[in-house]
Amino acid sequence: MPITYCEDRKLFTLQTQKSTYQMKIDACGYLRHLYYGRKCVGDDFSYLYRDCDRGFSGNPYACGRERLISLDTMPLEYSSSDVGDYRVNSLSVVHPDGSRGTDLKFQGFEIQKRRKYALTGLPTAYSESEADADTLVITLGDTETRLEVRLYYGVFYERDVITRAVEIRNGGDSAVYLEKAASWCVDFPYGSWDLLHFHGRHCMERMPEREPLRNCIQTISSGRGTSSHQHNPFVILCDSEATEDTGDCYGFMLAYSGSHKTEVELDQFGLVRVVSGISDEQFRWKLEPESSFYTPEAILSFTSEGLGQLSRNYHVFIRHHICRGTYKSSRRPVLFNNWEATYADFDEERLLSLAAQAADLGVELFVLDDGWFHLRTSDTAGLGDWFPNRDKLPHGLAALADRICGLGMKFGLWVEPECVNEDSDLFRAHPDWALTVPGRLPVLGRMQLMLDLSRQEVQDYLYDAMEKLLTEAKISYIKWDMNRSLSDLYSHALPADRQGEVGHRYVLGLYSLLERLTGAFPEVLFEGCSGGGGRFDAGMLYYTPQIWCSDDTDAIQRLEIQRGTSFGYPASTMGCHVTASPNHQTGRSTPLNTRGIVAMSGMFGYEMNLATLSEAERQEVREQIRTYQKDEPLIREGNLYRLGSSVENGHYTAWQYVSPDQKTALVNVVVTDPKANGKLIHLRLKGLKENVQYRLEDTKAHTISGAALMYGGYTLPLLSGDYPAFQLRLAVMD
Ligand code: DGJ
Repeated sequence: MPITYCEDRKLFTLQTQKSTYQMKIDACGYLRHLYYGRKCVGDDFSYLYRDCDRGFSGNPYACGRERLISLDTMPLEYSSSDVGDYRVNSLSVVHPDGSRGTDLKFQGFEIQKRRKYALTGLPTAYSESEADADTLVITLGDTETRLEVRLYYGVFYERDVITRAVEIRNGGDSAVYLEKAASWCVDFPYGSWDLLHFHGRHCMERMPEREPLRNCIQTISSGRGTSSHQHNPFVILCDSEATEDTGDCYGFMLAYSGSHKTEVELDQFGLVRVVSGISDEQFRWKLEPESSFYTPEAILSFTSEGLGQLSRNYHVFIRHHICRGTYKSSRRPVLFNNWEATYADFDEERLLSLAAQAADLGVELFVLDDGWFHLRTSDTAGLGDWFPNRDKLPHGLAALADRICGLGMKFGLWVEPECVNEDSDLFRAHPDWALTVPGRLPVLGRMQLMLDLSRQEVQDYLYDAMEKLLTEAKISYIKWDMNRSLSDLYSHALPADRQGEVGHRYVLGLYSLLERLTGAFPEVLFEGCSGGGGRFDAGMLYYTPQIWCSDDTDAIQRLEIQRGTSFGYPASTMGCHVTASPNHQTGRSTPLNTRGIVAMSGMFGYEMNLATLSEAERQEVREQIRTYQKDEPLIREGNLYRLGSSVENGHYTAWQYVSPDQKTALVNVVVTDPKANGKLIHLRLKGLKENVQYRLEDTKAHTISGAALMYGGYTLPLLSGDYPAFQLRLAVMD
C-alpha cells in the first residue's frame, strides 16, 4: 500500500517501489519526520531519534515539565518561526497582533486513493492513469491563531517519487501576512552528506558543484524573479561516496519558475534540515480570512543506486507526469533557427533563401527568431508590438509562413511576450503596465522592462496578441523567450500592503497565460527560453516540453551544460543546435561531426548561415538529419547513462541512451583532449540485457552479449584531431 496510517503508533508510512517515508504524531501533537530512504516494510522508525535535554533549546509550555521535548531538536514535517525552533524554518506568519509564532499541531488527515491532488494555477505533477498516484493530506493547525497548514503528499509508487506542496489557510477573522511559506521540509538524523547543486551564468548554465555539508546553512537561491541561470531549483543530497551507480541519493526539485530558495542546515547536533520553496526575500503575502495560499510543488526522489538512477527517476517522471500536450511523447521536428545565421539583420528574401536551403537539407521546421516585428531593427525597440515589421516582411507573416510551408517545412516563430521596450506603441499607450516603482528610474535589462503579468488586462492583451499570430499565420512552433532578470517588483494595480506579492503573482500570471495558450493551441510546439536556459525548471516544462538549453552553442562547452542539465532533466527537454565554426560565443573551431553529435544528444536543430556550407558539408548535414531522425525516439525516450565526463577524466565525455525495451542503444562520445600515442578509451556500457546478443554497427560480422558489453566493455578506436567524436549503435538481433 503506498500510503498507510497506523492508529496505534500514530504513524504515517509512504511507500514507493524502492523508498520509504515515515512520520509520526507525537504525544504533544507535533508531526515528526522519522525517515526517508531505502525501502523498509513494517518498521517503526520512532527509535531513530532520541529526545535529550539540551541547553538553550527551549521546551513547549504545553508539554508540561518535560525538558526532553524541544522543537529545536525535533525532526519536523513542517516548521514555523518563533515557537522555539531556531533552525531554518518553513513558515513565517505575521498575525494581526504583530506576533509571528504558529504552533502547528496535528488536526486530521485524509488519504485519497488513486488520485493525485492538483494545485489551482500552479504546475502540478499529474497521473497518467488512476493507478499512478495516491494522495495524503495532513492538516496541522494552531488553535490560537486559527491558521491551518495542509501538507499534501503525492505518492507515485512506480516512479519512486513523492511530491509535496502546502496549503496555508487563514481560519481567523483578520488578514495575516505570510513572510515565508516553504513547499516542504525534510529532516535527517545525521549529516555526512554531500550537497550537489547546479550553478552558472548566462551562457554557462547548470554547472554541477559537489561539496560536503558544512556546519552552517548552505543556501541555493535566486532573487531574479526567475529560476535563473545562476542557481537551478534542483539540489541533490548524496552519500559522500556516491557515484553514478552506487550510493544513497535524494533529489529535491521545485516545480517553480520564479525566485526560489533551498536552505540546507547542518545543525549543532549534527542533524540536517532541508527546506525549500518560494524565496522569502521579496515575499509578503496578505492572506485574508477564509482564504488559502498554495505553495509551488516539490518533486522528491530517493534511490540507493547512485546519481545515474536518480537522474533517470527524474527523466521518466518529467516526461510522463510534468510535460503535457501533443509533444509530450511525439517526435520533435528537426528545426532550423535563423538567429545565429542573421541575428536581427534580415528581410523576406534572405529568409526565403535560407528556408530553401534548409528544406533542401531535410530540415522539417523553419523558425524565425527575434527581429521580425514592428520597430525591431535592433534590440532597443519593438517588444510589445506583436505585428510584423513591414520593411522586413512586406507581405506579412502569413504569406511568409505559407511560402515556407510550401517548401515542405513547418513554420515557427520567436516571441518575447513578457517584456516591453519603452520604444514601443504598447509602452506609449500603457506605461503603467510595466513593473516600475513610482518616482524611481527602473533597472533596464537589454534596454527593456518587464510587463506586469500579475494584471489580468496585461495577460489578456498578450493572449489576444498571441492568439492573433497563431490563428492568422500557419505557425506550428513558438519559441517563448524572456531576456532579463526581474526588478522593480511594483505593480501599479496593487495597494502598498500587497506589493510583496508581485513576484509570485507575476509567475502565476505567466502560468495562467501559458495554460490558456497551450490549451487553445495544443498542436503547437512551445519551446521555452530565457536567454538560453535562464528558466529551465519543471514549472516551465509543464507548459513547454522543451527549453533552449543555453545561448552558449560551443559544442565543447555544451558537453558540460547538457551534462549538468541531465542530472535533473531529460534529453527530451533540451533544445540543442549545430552552429557555425568558429563558434560565435567562444571563437573555438570544432568539426561538423562533433557539433552534430553534441546537438544530437538533445532535441536537434541547426542555427547557422547555410549559405557558407561547402557541398561536402551539405552532404554531411543531410546525413546527420537522416541519422537523427532514426535515433530521435531513442534519445527522447531512452534511459540515459552518463559514462564519462571530460571535467572529471580530463579526456572525453560519453553518454549512452538505451531504449525502454533495452533492444537498441546509442553511445555518443566526444574527445576533448586527444593525446599523442595515448590510451584507448574503454567504456563499460550500462543498462543492457545481460543474456541478449547485440549487433554493433561496426562489427557486422558478429554479435556481443549485453553482459560482455557491460562487464568487459567496449574499446573505442584511436580518435585524433580537433575534438573528434564517435557514435556507436547497438541493436538486438531479431
Ligand atoms: C536569447 C535567446 O536565447 C536566443 O536564442 C535568441 O532567441 C535571442 N534571445 C534573440 O533575442
